[in-house]
Amino acid sequence: MQKLVIKGRKEISGKISISGSKNATLPILAASILGDHVRIKNIPLVKDIFTMIDLLNFIGLKTKLIKKENIIEISNNSKNINTLAPYKLVKTMRAGVLVLGSLLTKYKKAKVSLPGGCAIGTRPVDLHLFALKKLGAKIKIKDGYIFAQAKNGLRGAKISFPSISVGATENALLAAFKAKGKTILNNCAVEPEIKDLIKFLKKLGAKIHLKGRSISISESKIKNSKVVHQVIFDRIELGTYMIASSLLAKNNFMIDKIDPAIIRSEINVLRKIGVKIIQKKNYIIIKKSKRLKNINITTKPYPGFPTDLQAQLMVLLTQANGISKIKEDIFENRFMHVPELRRMGAQIEIKDKTAIIKGPTKLTGAEVMATDLRASVSLVLAGLIAENRTVINRIYHLDRGYEFLEKKLKNCKAEIKRI
Ligand code: EPZ
Repeated sequence: MQKLVIKGRKEISGKISISGSKNATLPILAASILGDHVRIKNIPLVKDIFTMIDLLNFIGLKTKLIKKENIIEISNNSKNINTLAPYKLVKTMRAGVLVLGSLLTKYKKAKVSLPGGCAIGTRPVDLHLFALKKLGAKIKIKDGYIFAQAKNGLRGAKISFPSISVGATENALLAAFKAKGKTILNNCAVEPEIKDLIKFLKKLGAKIHLKGRSISISESKIKNSKVVHQVIFDRIELGTYMIASSLLAKNNFMIDKIDPAIIRSEINVLRKIGVKIIQKKNYIIIKKSKRLKNINITTKPYPGFPTDLQAQLMVLLTQANGISKIKEDIFENRFMHVPELRRMGAQIEIKDKTAIIKGPTKLTGAEVMATDLRASVSLVLAGLIAENRTVINRIYHLDRGYEFLEKKLKNCKAEIKRI
């Protein structure tokens, strides 16, 4: 099994360019089932995206991945469509469940494996099914699969989500595309990735309007012409490298191919901690921070501070002066990185949903392992600032979501290698 070996305490210099967003590309790929021919640019070449492409191929779409240009072309003109998302694909990548909405819209039926729990929580899909049922889908759960049907097509409805869910909002948007009449979705997630999906759906012909946390969709026709879309940048990758550079930048460190306006709350949080950030239109400059301050923060749906940056922020806070608290309010089990960080010398205690971090502490290299994508990258950050050598096991988690991680860091003079 592959491992990452990091020699810590090396300053980084130069610049990092941010890749396309994994979590925007996944629902857009699921939405491509609706179109005849789409060309999607700026897709990150990471494992989860390859799995979603495998799923589209399994369903019967034709895909052509142009790796050198980070582009995928997808056409859907086959008569042999499999309206099935099998367990073997959905179990490795939960976003597979997003084909449910598209398949129901286009083919009026779908059989999609239930994803099951994962390392960060139980992650049910009840809110997805709640929305689809409101749109008139008949749903049965049998043998670990969701069987959904809408023989006469779906019909518009007013749906208020009892709590905010990114995936359920996406599935509902995909299902509402051709639903008769008008659909109004209230209490939606409004992450930038959802706004990107809406942009893509509009290009496909959807009449969608977003206001606050409400989205209205009028019955729409799918355009037959070719649709081209450029995926937005990965704001979580950006946040990860902002944290790395605030601890390790030699001089001014540049991160480009981004839009700082989209990550206002992250920038505000880092500034409060004492990170020096110069913000420009499509890049930012980070300076190495001299003295970091403690902070109390709770993860929240966008525009709040993202759960997907919680583990990385925790590493930063091990270097801040005083006691910091992070409350994880999205997932029930997202502190799996804490025991590993403790093995590297971090002083972190968990009380219910809150991690209490005492800083500053000197981290020292160790052999560690992680259980999910963001926990893994937090260990990379810890390894980069720790004394001596850190060995990270189970790096397949990292490969699910960070494009060219070692290459990007090596180019900035970090000492990191895969063995
Ligand atoms: C998306 O997951 C992201 N994944 C996650 O990214 C991210 O952490 C999460 O949103 C929150 O921002 C993708 O976009 C592919 P949710 P999703 O539905 O859609 C509960 C990463 O590291 N819930 O907004 O699955 C759920 O258990 C990842 O890239 C229900 O109770 O998240 C959680 O507590 C991991 N019932 C909360 O809602 C449901 O039917 C938010 O989950 C659905 C969700």
